Amino acid sequence: MKALLAKKQDKGYKVSLEETEPQSGEVLVDIAYSSLNYKDALAVTAKGRIIRTFPMVIGIDLAGTVIESSSDEFRKGDKVIGLAQGLGETEWGGYAQQQRVLAKTLVPLPASLSLEDAMRIGTAGFTAMLSVMALDAYGLEPSEREVVVTGAAGGVGSLAVMLLARRGHRVAASTGRPELEEYFRNLGASSILPRAELARKPSPLESERFLGGIDTVGGDTLATLFAQTVYEGAIACCGMAGGHELNTTVWPLILRNVALLGISSIHTSKEKRKEAWSRLAAEVPRDRLEAISRTEPLSNIVALSEELLAGKVLGRIVIDVNR
Ligand SMILES: NC(=O)c1ccc[n+]([C@@H]2O[C@H](COP(=O)([O-])OP(=O)(O)OC[C@H]3O[C@@H](n4cnc5c(N)ncnc54)[C@H](OP(=O)(O)O)[C@@H]3O)[C@@H](O)[C@H]2O)c1
Repeated sequence: MKALLAKKQDKGYKVSLEETEPQSGEVLVDIAYSSLNYKDALAVTAKGRIIRTFPMVIGIDLAGTVIESSSDEFRKGDKVIGLAQGLGETEWGGYAQQQRVLAKTLVPLPASLSLEDAMRIGTAGFTAMLSVMALDAYGLEPSEREVVVTGAAGGVGSLAVMLLARRGHRVAASTGRPELEEYFRNLGASSILPRAELARKPSPLESERFLGGIDTVGGDTLATLFAQTVYEGAIACCGMAGGHELNTTVWPLILRNVALLGISSIHTSKEKRKEAWSRLAAEVPRDRLEAISRTEPLSNIVALSEELLAGKVLGRIVIDVNR
């Protein structure tokens, strides 16, 4: 099989497309598609410490068909999705034509989704759904107040706008690309918020403005949103595209009951993964999903990763591992 391998060097590591054999694992999957997430781009360009063991096949997502299985859970011919759970970090990942993975890594593809749709959603959309589920579990009900999605033109951001709008929320899309108004309106956004409005040092407590939101940016952006969230509002924090620091105070917590809800997609239980995929299959409008995605060959992965880290990718990129 052809795979994107990262091999350790004296200094750092080298990434190249090579012929190799799948490693050990209970389920052998014929991969149709993977996708490009922020973390993948960091791993491909060696700009972040994503890979934990070498050699490693990069790619935190995969979707394909089971070729053989020693697990009772999956049979030959089953369509499956694998996301996170160590893929591309500690376990060989999805930038390959085939992969052997542990059965616990996989969930069945919902019947109404194609393999390509599953990767249009990918870890980005899955994380957006985990964020929506966290806000729902907290009890955040749609109201006249807007929720904010930061980094709205990115993968997680685009899906988050789409899902929150579908849930009945009024959604403000916070972005460094406000010229893309039509894109955000098509996702269901009610307004566009230029990035600079939140990306600044906030006062500890500012006027109550937003119901809360989904934050993919972190840093000052999250701190300002936190200071502007209404009484009993909530923010799902899932990313750090703008910085990993959070300089704030306890005022929004103890004076306004504002909740900061942490989101991690890495080790989500299988039960919760199935619930999230079932909701994604039911709630993601397919025409909009297609409109925010493009499919690219694995052979272009380095250029695509650089494009993503430069903040130039709009929406989602599906990776065709056979091209
Ligand atoms: N918690 C989890 O399990 C989980 C899962 C997936 C992703 N993530 C994290 O979520 C974040 C987004 O991932 P993604 O795959 O959606 O990446 P992406 O497609 O590259 O989107 C990131 C977006 O963030 C905005 N942005 C980029 N640089 C920025 C900066 N310096 N300041 C402010 N905004 C900036 C841009 O949106 P605009 O052009 O609209 O401004 C960009 O499109 C990453 O930090 C990623 O690691 C976390």
